[in-house]
Order: sequence, then C-alpha cells, then structure tokens
Amino acid sequence: MPSIKKVAEVAGVSVGTVSHVITGSVPVSDELRLKVQTAIRDLNYHPNHVARSLKTSKTRTLGIIVPDMTISFFPQIIRGAETAARKRGYFLIAVNSDDDGDRQKDLLSLLRSQRVEGILLVVAAAPTPISQISRILDAGIPVVCLDRIPDRVAVDSVSVEDTEGAQLGVDHLIAQGLRRIAVVTGPLALKNERRRVQGYRTALERAGIPVDESLIWQGNLRTADVAAMCREKLAASRKPDAVFSTNGPTALGVLRAFRDCGLRTPEDIAFATFDELAVDDIFSPSVTTVVQPAYDIGSRAANLLLDRIEHVEALDDPITIRLPANLRVGESSRVLQRAR
Ligand code: RIB
Repeated sequence: MPSIKKVAEVAGVSVGTVSHVITGSVPVSDELRLKVQTAIRDLNYHPNHVARSLKTSKTRTLGIIVPDMTISFFPQIIRGAETAARKRGYFLIAVNSDDDGDRQKDLLSLLRSQRVEGILLVVAAAPTPISQISRILDAGIPVVCLDRIPDRVAVDSVSVEDTEGAQLGVDHLIAQGLRRIAVVTGPLALKNERRRVQGYRTALERAGIPVDESLIWQGNLRTADVAAMCREKLAASRKPDAVFSTNGPTALGVLRAFRDCGLRTPEDIAFATFDELAVDDIFSPSVTTVVQPAYDIGSRAANLLLDRIEHVEALDDPITIRLPANLRVGESSRVLQRAR
C-alpha cells in the first residue's frame, strides 16, 4: 500500500505539503496541489482520515440536518454547504429529520457521536425544544440554523428575508388588479411561515385591502392534505381571484386542487408561490415564484460555521444573516386581460 512519503517523493514535495493538500488546512499553490493530486491518483493512495482524526482530535467533518432531501429546496442548500465545506477542507454528512422532533434529537446525538466539528440545522416543523440546541452549543460544538430559525434560541442563523419575499409576491398579484387573494400556508409553528403570512398581510394593508381572515388557509407541508383542504375551501366559499402559497410542497397541493376542481390558471384563478417547484421550467403556464437563494443560504451558513470552528468569527453574540428573495414572474399570475 502506498504511503504519504511515497506520494511526496513522486510529487517532488514535502510530506507536509501532501498533508496540507489532503486536509485543505493550509493554502497550497495550484501548481503544487496539481502535482500532489496527480501522484495520489497515480499511486491510488487513500489517506486514512480516521487515524488522522484520532491523532489530531479533528475530524474535519460537519453535519447538516434537513427535513427532507426529496423536497427540491433542500438539495440546493446541501450543495451550497457541501461545496463551501469542501473548499475549506471539510467533509459534510447530510441526514433527514423527516420533520420529526424526536428523530431530530436522535440525529443531533448521532452527529455528536460521529465527532462532527459543527452542525448546520434546518429545524423540523415540530417545535424544537431550546435544550436540543443548547446542549450541543454547551458541548462546544458550533451550530448554525439555516432557513428555519427556531424560536427563543440565541444561535447563528442564515435565511431568506421571509416577510419581504412574501410581500413581493403578493404586491405583484395586487399590481395585476387582484384583490380577493387567499394565502395557503405551511405549519404556522414555523417562524418563517408566520413571517411569510405577515408579508401577505402587510402587502394587503399597504394596498388598502382589508385582510379577510377567512382567506388565510392554514395547511401543512403534505401535498395531499393541502389539496384536500383547498378542494373543500374552493367548493365551500366564494372563490378567490388568486392564491399565494407560502412554500413549495404546499404549492403543489394548491395546484393539485385547482386541477381537481377544473380551475385553469390564470384564466379562472391566478397563482403565485414562495419557492421554486422542481419542474417549473416545464410547467405551462409557468409559475410566478418568489425564488429563495437556496444555494447561497447553504454556502453562507457553512462558511459562518467554519468561521466559528476556526475562530475567525470570535464574537459571542449570535450572527444573523438574511438574504433577499427574487420575484420571477411567470404566466400563472398574468391576468390583466381577464374579464372580472
Ligand atoms: O419545505 C420547503 C419549505 O420549508 C421552504 O419554503 C423552506 O423555506 C422551508 O422552511
């Protein structure tokens, strides 16, 4: 089996340089890195990270917990975090909480046992007890919460500007001349969902449109449940002119209900949503979307976590980073020609 010494010999560099390339802990010139990487490949050398971590007590591993990797928003977050981590010589373990508080608790403990050096956490929809996070912080493991910020916990966080983002979407619907706008929400136990509903309220109030509480349809993140609720609401009451959905999985439920009720968008009912849907580009009509910078959220959160781990960021106070959302106007909200 080739050794690190052999790699250094073939690459014509010191053992220290090979080690720096492998761990990413010290910057190395592109020329030397290439020589080392070529020697590693040619010799089929596989460094033993476990032995290294036993010696240094550093695993150079981070953990990320997301609710569900099959929801297209989360893989983008993971990509951003993983790329940022890799650039700084860290490896990322990604796991799913299934939006379940107990599972999240188990995963936090599992990541601790894996000796991760820091944790990125998108909290589960079930309320997260403060102790789950404070226990990790007290053990000296930095945590950065991303996307969903837990209530009452002083912790670093990176997320989108939820209120302003929702306002952008609803302002746009109002600008199309729509006044009877329903909002369909995810679980309001989540702060970001509450903020998005606040954005909806603010947009209506600023436009002088009274908020009709019966048009706030409280749903969840399960598409089938949301579809069933919307079918009922659409059948029971005067149909709204438009629907704004506060997240992607909920949006899919709304669209399913439109289809089941035989409603065409935008002809019969306009539609806009927070979050890109996985297949937006092939939807017809294209969907008006408040787009989150998901990749950047992951990348900024991983860099903040690494700054904490490497003590670049030594402030005691939690750091809060909010990134703006963008409105992408599609055909689902183009109703200016509709006869109302
Ligand atoms: O399930 C995806 C949704 O949950 C997104 O809107 C994201 O922001 C989140 O918290």
